[in-house]
Amino acid sequence: MAHIKIINASPRAPRSNSKIYAKMFADYCTMQTEYLELNRKNTPELTQSASDCKDLILVFPLYADGIPVSLLNFLKELSQIPSDCKPTVSAIINCGFLESMQNNIAVEQIRLFCDENGFSAGSFLKIGSGEAIADTPFKAFVKYKMKRFAKSVEKGNYREFSVSMPLTKKMFVIAANKYWLNRGKQNGLTKEQMDVDTIEDQ
Ligand SMILES: Cc1cc2nc3c(=O)[nH]c(=O)nc-3n(C[C@H](O)[C@H](O)[C@H](O)COP(=O)(O)O)c2cc1C
Repeated sequence: MAHIKIINASPRAPRSNSKIYAKMFADYCTMQTEYLELNRKNTPELTQSASDCKDLILVFPLYADGIPVSLLNFLKELSQIPSDCKPTVSAIINCGFLESMQNNIAVEQIRLFCDENGFSAGSFLKIGSGEAIADTPFKAFVKYKMKRFAKSVEKGNYREFSVSMPLTKKMFVIAANKYWLNRGKQNGLTKEQMDVDTIEDQ
């Protein structure tokens, strides 16, 4: 049994930023870890697996200022496991906006889940600019915080950490526009095509 299980709860887990952060955590963690990806079908299997570890690390994106629905459904099932099997629940949350504090509500949601269902809350790493930071030289900042986060979980000295790109909002907006226009170009899309309301359907 792995002492630490990592569950990637991003709705796009196989090609997610959460996957990058989960791997980073596993690289810095000196204890045995097991990485699992949540999908529409495997909630019962993952719930079973989560009841067989000391620490559970949930890695997920911020969706509409909170936790994604897929994770909510998983937590509902997790709340049902016997009390002697309940792991300490930590989380690595990444969001698109610059400020790591955008993730505060999701942290509170996980803390509330723990309080109401007899789990202990562990450490939290809140990553701002999570969509972009791992592709920039500022990745070193995330690595530094991830190392400290991993240590805190290993030692059971649970704490909260946060990290983001050291940019002003104005600089971030300019850089983000450039980045997304480039991504659009790579996919054959112009700015005008990306500006339409139905872009998510394409
Ligand atoms: C439906 C949806 C809702 C989102 N809501 C927020 C939000 O409220 N705040 C924010 O900062 N980022 C938001 N984002 C951006 C994601 O948190 C960000 O792209 C993240 O890096 C995705 O992580 P993943 O690749 O691990 O899924 C949202 C993205 C989607 C698709």
